[in-house]
Amino acid sequence: MTTSWDEAFANRYEEWSAHMTADVAFYTELARGADGPLVELAVGNGRVAIPVARATGRSVIGIDASPAMLAQARRRAAEAGVELELREADLRDLALDEPAGLIYCPFRSLLHLPTWADRRRTFERVAASLRAHGRFAWNAIAFDHRLAARLDGVHQDAPVPHTIHYAVGDSRIDIVRDDGATSSLWWATKNEWLGLLDVAGLEVEALYGGFAHEPFTDDSREYVFVARRRY
Ligand SMILES: C[S@@+](CC[C@H](N)C(=O)[O-])C[C@H]1O[C@@H](n2cnc3c(N)ncnc32)[C@H](O)[C@@H]1O
Repeated sequence: MTTSWDEAFANRYEEWSAHMTADVAFYTELARGADGPLVELAVGNGRVAIPVARATGRSVIGIDASPAMLAQARRRAAEAGVELELREADLRDLALDEPAGLIYCPFRSLLHLPTWADRRRTFERVAASLRAHGRFAWNAIAFDHRLAARLDGVHQDAPVPHTIHYAVGDSRIDIVRDDGATSSLWWATKNEWLGLLDVAGLEVEALYGGFAHEPFTDDSREYVFVARRRY
């Protein structure tokens, strides 16, 4: 199964993601309260999984399709002295030996799945991989037409020189670095997320507008979802 992730984006990922720190405490708190295995989908270089493993004293199963990102996670976990159980696999094929207490997917990574079918399949695999009352948490951007109008086609120097292109007809954002590495995201609406939970048989526990548990409002620009398996 091919993924939309460009391996070239792995180099300089640490610089690219350095500004994103607000989510770590949010996912760590959920992990602390979880009974059963902890699983990060699209674990990347371990940016979140490493502090989660350190804070909980537990291993985190990290799943990612990118050998380059997993190599970084392996090195960084060893340097941090924490245990990650890293698996090279596609999110859409998620299968665990033991049902999880928490499955989480930070930094909008579910948006790398291009189609409804890809996402539905992933949500169904997540639901099948959770314990009774186990949680699934993720965050994703809410499409902002004002931001899109401001950023579309405009070159930016930080954190790594790049230009963002909006392909509105495909609900797609292409982040194109000056060196050619490209990361594509397909945005989803609140109702699409709720529909995915519905078809997977999961229920919403909370929808926040940010990582400090801000209420989700019409002005929110980030979906921060916590869902739960009923039984
Ligand atoms: C933005 S990075 C997020 C990494 C990390 N979770 C973080 O928060 O920094 C996105 C990750 O999604 C992974 N990815 C994209 N599509 C995937 C798929 N279909 N299956 C598994 N991993 C995928 C990429 O390899 C990449 O490591």
